[in-house]
Amino acid sequence: MSDTFDGLWAGLAPLGRHRSTGGYRRFSWSAADAEVRAWFAAAAADRGLDVETDRNGNLWAWWGAPGPDAVVTGSHLDSVPDGGAFDGPLGVAGALAAVDELRRRGLRPARPLAVTVFVEEEGARFGVPCLGSRLLTGAITPERARGLTDADGLSWAKAMAAAGLDPDRIGADPERAGRIGVFVELHIEQGRALVHRGVPLGVASAVWPHGRWRLDFSGQADHAGTTRLADRNDPMLPFAETVLAAREAAEAHDAVATIGKVHVAPNGTNAIPSRVRAWLDARAPEDVVLRALVDQVNEAARRSSVRHGVALASYQESLTPIVKFRPGLRDRLAALIGAEGAPAPVLPTGAGHDAGTLAAAVPTAMLFVRNPTGVSHAPDEFAEPADCHAGVAALADVLAELAGAETERGAR
Ligand code: GLV
Ligand code: MN
Ligand code: MN
Repeated sequence: MSDTFDGLWAGLAPLGRHRSTGGYRRFSWSAADAEVRAWFAAAAADRGLDVETDRNGNLWAWWGAPGPDAVVTGSHLDSVPDGGAFDGPLGVAGALAAVDELRRRGLRPARPLAVTVFVEEEGARFGVPCLGSRLLTGAITPERARGLTDADGLSWAKAMAAAGLDPDRIGADPERAGRIGVFVELHIEQGRALVHRGVPLGVASAVWPHGRWRLDFSGQADHAGTTRLADRNDPMLPFAETVLAAREAAEAHDAVATIGKVHVAPNGTNAIPSRVRAWLDARAPEDVVLRALVDQVNEAARRSSVRHGVALASYQESLTPIVKFRPGLRDRLAALIGAEGAPAPVLPTGAGHDAGTLAAAVPTAMLFVRNPTGVSHAPDEFAEPADCHAGVAALADVLAELAGAETERGAR
């Protein structure tokens, strides 16, 4: 199993990696995305899996005929800007290696089994995370998805068409979603809870509610040298106060809030900007807490904008309510993959996942692999090879259990 995982990993590792930062830039429908999708199709075909692309651009590799009540596993191959190697790809390469491991054990699933790659999980290019799984389950309308644009104003519809797929066919796909009997996602842990517990694997209990809000501060462009302070309508000022307000609100609510993406127009050193566009990412343990936090930030942004004579427009770009994974499935998997008789730890996460989106429609679960740095969405994201192999073995155990796998010669 370690051979096949290591071989898969070595094939995937160079694709979409930026030469100077060492981070990954695998944005949906980019050239790097085409490369990782081709890598997946080839690796799946090598294993005799039947690969198909669904109407929304998600990839499916079937072991056995596609059918109802399937056991589905997978993750995503897109990345945030300069992302790490593991967030997403571990769950895809790990799923293919788990198929190899089941075969090595002489097992064959009694239910259909599929490995999936969901498109635009990070929302790094078009703004809405988990777009592929949202489209599949009808959590976003096709009209809205088609109209999402990237930083250059290129729409999802145009980018998808340029990649050879038909954007007129996107949207809820109840027939395909209805085939999923259960979905399990293997993922790197995006914190250090497993390091603190001294174990390689965990199981997810819940995904914090989270969302993205765009704040447009519009002022008056002017000369940095000749415009008196009293005469300015500088959008940078309410923006700066909003960054600090987000931090304050997060502390007050025991939550997190981040402004990590900003566009300044026209972005000149010696000019007061005309507009600052900022994106707030906020996450909290409960839906009502998230609402209160975001209301507090919006109110601070509004007050500061009035004070500085700046116009403010605020838009919610995405909102994902709390996900509580099914306790029965969660505890069954924790018992199955635990070491030395103790169940694996059960952990909540502040990160979003396709498993969370799919949870509204089908039973889902997540397995986490220890991350010694605790860093994620950055090049320092890391998992030891031995822990990745443990993750693959655990995923194979889980798939065998859920798919009622039998030995090639008959029931176990
Ligand atoms: C995706 O990983 C997210 O949590 O934003
Ligand atoms: Mn991520
Ligand atoms: Mn991920």
